[in-house]
Amino acid sequence: MALSRIIAITAIVCMAAGTAGAADLSDQEQLGKSIFFDEALSSNQNQSCASCHNPTAGWTGSTSEVNAGTVVYEGSIPGSFGNRKPPSSAYATTSSIFHYDAKAGLFVGGNFWDGRARGERLGNPAAEQAQGPFLNPLEQALGAATDVIDRICGSSYADLFRTVCGSAACDQANVNEAYDCVGLSVAAFEGSFESNAFSSKFDAHLKGKARLAPSELQGFALFMGKGKCNKCHVISFGKKNGPALFTDYTFDNLGIPRYPDNPFYTAAPGFNPDGYNWIDPGLGGFLMTRAEFAAFADANYGKHKVPTLRNVDKRPSPDFVKAYGHNGYFKSLKRIVHFYNTRDVLPRCDSSVTDAEAEVMGCWPPPEVAATVNTAELGNLGLDDAEENALVDFMKTLTDGYQQ
Ligand code: HEC
Ligand code: HEC
Repeated sequence: MALSRIIAITAIVCMAAGTAGAADLSDQEQLGKSIFFDEALSSNQNQSCASCHNPTAGWTGSTSEVNAGTVVYEGSIPGSFGNRKPPSSAYATTSSIFHYDAKAGLFVGGNFWDGRARGERLGNPAAEQAQGPFLNPLEQALGAATDVIDRICGSSYADLFRTVCGSAACDQANVNEAYDCVGLSVAAFEGSFESNAFSSKFDAHLKGKARLAPSELQGFALFMGKGKCNKCHVISFGKKNGPALFTDYTFDNLGIPRYPDNPFYTAAPGFNPDGYNWIDPGLGGFLMTRAEFAAFADANYGKHKVPTLRNVDKRPSPDFVKAYGHNGYFKSLKRIVHFYNTRDVLPRCDSSVTDAEAEVMGCWPPPEVAATVNTAELGNLGLDDAEENALVDFMKTLTDGYQQ
């Protein structure tokens, strides 16, 4: 579903992509970058934000085997797993503070697949998001904010930390302010030109500095038209709206099947009491926890945030596997496009069928959450094979770092 065009840009985005070097990050952005890549900020000193959000993989999971297998990344502590695929951390700062748009009748914004990093306290969803992973027992698993601050204060970038966050930032008494400054600094890096680069072939094409190949152009036209992709992965042209973000930050249920290999199904009962019967509640699950939104929970059960498609094909080598969708059910762009095209056309198979098996069998398993599936905008697009391939070719033009 498309929200009526206007997307609030909460972060100021520097457009110097391609011309500026690392030295041109501000002190705060540089601090955020040091924190983002610091594996010492995890309980076993073996995991940083970049482990699950690696620039070479389009700011998503850095290990091909994991993307092909569990999809969910193991935390710092062996055997600990969350339940979703890491989305891109780039282009997350451009999401507005989570809110209900009464006119459109839609929830918009926030960070995470279910929007639960709302951004109200720090005025920035990405800053609030960034405070989570360090202390999440299934991710970097440090005990408390003081542990994070102590490790930063013992690091090689401790001086920069005091410059940005205040000369007393390492004092125990200031831990809350210091931890807010950590969140804001990571978000500053995530909003910097190194992360939100806007330097793809598509961007160059719009500026008249590159020419899309015929199949890429055909894919672009399908994206805007017959494929209906632009209804949710919105491209809004013109100076007023800023560069295209390929999302309107609304939420939808595509009817993606369960992912049988999700390690969360066998997580300890303290994390997942439902075992194999666990269903990802998406936005509805978050709304249920808030009195002011609980009445909307059922209608939004199983919906997930529309992800940006920027860097969706970016990978360190051609044989590197990427996973697509909140649970990583799909292992190629071609397969997810085929799903959009034929979800309601091909026969149904069992919910234990993997994507590789479904490809051979020519079927689709049932949706994980059936009640709220969007049948108006996808499921039977009537695309032929060449048109599916053209859409894939177009998405490949969204990889940052394009050079002629
Ligand atoms: C163990 C893997 C892992 C680590 C480590 C990790 N993340 Fe994530 N990240 C995820 C997953 C999984 C999600 C989606 C979770 C969800 O939606 O419930 C996510 C979501 C995000 C998002 C939301 C993007 C969006 O569009 O909503 C951002 C931004 C982000 N992470 C940044 C970070 C930062 C900053 C750090 C380090 C402080 C970090 N992550 C550490 C796995 C990880
Ligand atoms: C009705 C809104 C809607 C339409 C129309 C739509 N998408 Fe999506 N798209 C989404 C949502 C929501 C997700 C995430 C769903 C989930 O994971 O459960 C998504 C996920 C994706 C992903 C996976 C990205 C990732 O990082 O995992 C790709 C690729 C994609 N869409 C491409 C397309 C293409 C190509 C089209 C047109 C053929 C299209 N989408 C049409 C809403 C939409």
